[in-house]
Amino acid sequence: MKKNIASARINIESSHLLKVLNDSLPFDKELFKEDIKGSIAHARMLSNKEIISNDDFALIESGLNELLSDIESGKIELNEGDEDIHMAIERLLTAKIGDAAKRVHTARSRNDQVATDFRLYVQNNTIELANLLIRVIKSFINIAKDNTDTLLPGMTHLQHAQPINFGYHMLAYAVMFKRDYERFISSYDRNNISPLGCAALAGTPHPIDREQTAKELGFKEPSINCLDTVSDRDFALEILFNISTMMMHISRLSEELILWSTSEFKFVTLSDKHATGSSIMPQKKNPDIPELLRGKTGRAYGNLISLLTVMKGLPLAYNKDTQEDKEGVFDSVHTAKISLMVLIEMIDEMKVNKENMKKACKVGHLSATDLADYLVKNRDMPFRDAYHLVGNIVNEAEKLNKDISELSYQELKSIDNTFAQDVIEVLNITNSMNARVSKGGTSTKSTKEQIDILNSWLEKIVK
Ligand code: ARG
Repeated sequence: MKKNIASARINIESSHLLKVLNDSLPFDKELFKEDIKGSIAHARMLSNKEIISNDDFALIESGLNELLSDIESGKIELNEGDEDIHMAIERLLTAKIGDAAKRVHTARSRNDQVATDFRLYVQNNTIELANLLIRVIKSFINIAKDNTDTLLPGMTHLQHAQPINFGYHMLAYAVMFKRDYERFISSYDRNNISPLGCAALAGTPHPIDREQTAKELGFKEPSINCLDTVSDRDFALEILFNISTMMMHISRLSEELILWSTSEFKFVTLSDKHATGSSIMPQKKNPDIPELLRGKTGRAYGNLISLLTVMKGLPLAYNKDTQEDKEGVFDSVHTAKISLMVLIEMIDEMKVNKENMKKACKVGHLSATDLADYLVKNRDMPFRDAYHLVGNIVNEAEKLNKDISELSYQELKSIDNTFAQDVIEVLNITNSMNARVSKGGTSTKSTKEQIDILNSWLEKIVK
């Protein structure tokens, strides 16, 4: 009978069904690099502390490095058979270097080992996602720079509200993605502590040095309490939440791009590279990329809810339920990366149909609020009275089948003969957009200030 190296007291071969349910190698093989790195750091510390010999460490280190390149090059494939990535690496190392390999697991358990590997994976991918977000933010700033005076109807309730510029609208997304970046970085900082050396749950009687392994693996310091550390998956929940929020932002943008690509809007034209046709309707060009991004947001949420649910009833410390933490995180990380990469390409190559945006500003009486503001400022009218007067003017304009910005001075005077000539300027759509000079507002001037703020933030973080 083949003896399972991770079961000392079980003397019969595992049920095939147990293996199907229990084995995590088919998915946790994604952690092979982290597992090998962690084992090298652990073994180096064991030899420094004279818990294993220098000779054994030398064999372990070179054996593990060889394994790393064999797996990376495909010379060794991690197939089923082993229970998980940790047992697979230990078995392969033992086959390579013999007895020295059996000493690596001194003062360690798979509980701190998997917590270390998985945390390293999450930390590395957090930085990769944050770096991709920087590229996304730059793309939005670039498109904003070219469109600080491109008029666009700003909406509330999906109804025309006030004129804005397209650059300002793009900056709204730049700012959302900046928040996402900051959320990833703060999770990285908070979670940058090492589980290695916590062993099964209670630490170890061996004279280990957790500071040394923490440092070698790029963690700030060892964790405070081993019981918490081996059962903590907050770091995984944080990346799942951060990805979910980021995907929600991508999904909102996607929804707008889908609307803006319709023949009703025609505000943007997505590159043919990012659209597909229909198998029956020869004329079709469908916005599949934003639709997929919007759709994939659902799986990101699902992965978050799934792990929150797995964790909610677990007594301390490790429980096998926790093995369910990985697939969702891998899936969310892969989904987030491809989504960000395609988003950058799509934004960079999207055509902005400025004329159509401008034309759309001629409907919906976008400058109505400006007229009310004018009456408040120039006639000292209480805002509520001005608001009702402008409502009447809007009704009159509708009767004439016109937008209020198209009313002539004569027409305005016939409604209220106290209007002065300058009212025409107030109703002008470009003037309305540019009137909003308050901080964070939509005027071209304020939009440019926002671009400057974002650029100096970028300069500071991309040192
Ligand atoms: N494959 C396991 C996991 O991902 C590793 C830890 C197993 N620990 C144990 N005590 N059975 O959670």
